Amino acid sequence: MRPLTKQLGDVIPVPASVRPVPATSFTILPGTGVSTVPEASGVAAYLASELAKTVDGPIPIGPGGAIVLELDPSLAAEAYTLTAGESSVTLRGGTPQGLFWGVQTLLQLAPEVPGGVIEDEPRYEYRGAMLDLARHFFTAAEIKAHVDLLVQFKINHLHLHLTDDQGWRLEIPGWPRLTEISGGEGTGVDGAGPGFLTLAEYADVVAYAADRFVTVVPEIDMPGHVNAVHYAYPSLTADGQPVRQRIDAEVGYSSLVAGKEETYAFVEDVIRAVADATPGPYLHIGGDECHSTPAEDYRAFLARVLPLPGKYGKRAIGWHEIAAVELPETAVVQYWRIEAADENTARAATEGRRIIMAPADRTYLDMKYDPESPLGLDWAGHVDVRRSYDWDPADRLPGVPEEALLGVEAPLWSETLRSVADIQYLTFPRLPAIAEVAWSPRSVREWESFRTRLAAFGPRWEAAGVNFHRAPEIPWITAEPA
Ligand code: ACM
Repeated sequence: MRPLTKQLGDVIPVPASVRPVPATSFTILPGTGVSTVPEASGVAAYLASELAKTVDGPIPIGPGGAIVLELDPSLAAEAYTLTAGESSVTLRGGTPQGLFWGVQTLLQLAPEVPGGVIEDEPRYEYRGAMLDLARHFFTAAEIKAHVDLLVQFKINHLHLHLTDDQGWRLEIPGWPRLTEISGGEGTGVDGAGPGFLTLAEYADVVAYAADRFVTVVPEIDMPGHVNAVHYAYPSLTADGQPVRQRIDAEVGYSSLVAGKEETYAFVEDVIRAVADATPGPYLHIGGDECHSTPAEDYRAFLARVLPLPGKYGKRAIGWHEIAAVELPETAVVQYWRIEAADENTARAATEGRRIIMAPADRTYLDMKYDPESPLGLDWAGHVDVRRSYDWDPADRLPGVPEEALLGVEAPLWSETLRSVADIQYLTFPRLPAIAEVAWSPRSVREWESFRTRLAAFGPRWEAAGVNFHRAPEIPWITAEPA
């Protein structure tokens, strides 16, 4: 037998514990079966369908299959174990979700699975990726295809930035002009990204993500980033006069009017509709970059709006500017800037609020990799793969320790995006780096190991037609060794 080129721990995110058994392995071939418990039949079907592509042949599901899926209630919900011997591979998950993450590990190792035992579970419960549909719209089919790439790295939240100055991307009953006018032709940055999700399309995306154990987090950005609202409904502006459409990439010039009662009727209708359409626990209310909202108005607005997600059964998330005001107990603060410290976020953490860490100089997928990057922005500097990888969320902000962290997110803003190929170019390979920061224990993370493991994805992404950036610091493999 030729020596295995792959080791049991050659997985991204790197597992918490890996105990190889040298000189043993299990090879998945056409006809290798999957046996499962009934609760995991969906996971088994997913595994069989993915493996069938890897081995280019049928993978039957039924009793006696050499790949065994089981539930083990002694494991945490998202935890799994993988045990590979000469004649079988057994995956055990705390829940079907844990099993699904084990399946992702198995798919990265397939078809030749090195022998041994992996015991794995996530560091953070929130491992997110954000897609900005407002500056450039992507269809339900495009979003679903993106989810398929994200789950390979055990990402479990998809944050959709649904509204901004340049466009409104979700149908809201009773407010048809939001999408007719601000989701139509000529919307998005440079007018190049028109479109919106009907409620049926949104439900389809949410269900598809849920089938892959991904929770959709919808964001309605307010009180700033609302020119699309005022363009569609001039009655909501301060003086009731129309505003011009904006398709440039400026920020901070628009604001819902805190002193106008119509504002709150609008906001409550939107929050109710979005909450009704969203089975997940979170509703993101934005709150960032309100440079044209007087501080008193910002406070007054949030005092009325922050309780609304709770009223409709959701937990509010906001960008960290919301930490300037008193927050509901369950509110989550998402840190996004590049400062070394943030007093308000630290105070929120001290007062028991959970924090999502998304500092732009580490996690923003829309930053250029280097000065030559054909896409992206550079206000937070250049973010190469090592910058995405070589940091720790618990060290990022003084006063925001490990216990305060709900998780980590990688936002992708779409001002410079025009296609799915553009999404992929900025996402890969930095998203796998952030995913490892969010999943793997700090003690097992190491850059030299990561860059070698990442290199093995080159041929896979090529075969799958994924438009990844060939980052120069990664020793890419161009073909499988003979
Ligand atoms: C942001 O980047 N304005 C959250």
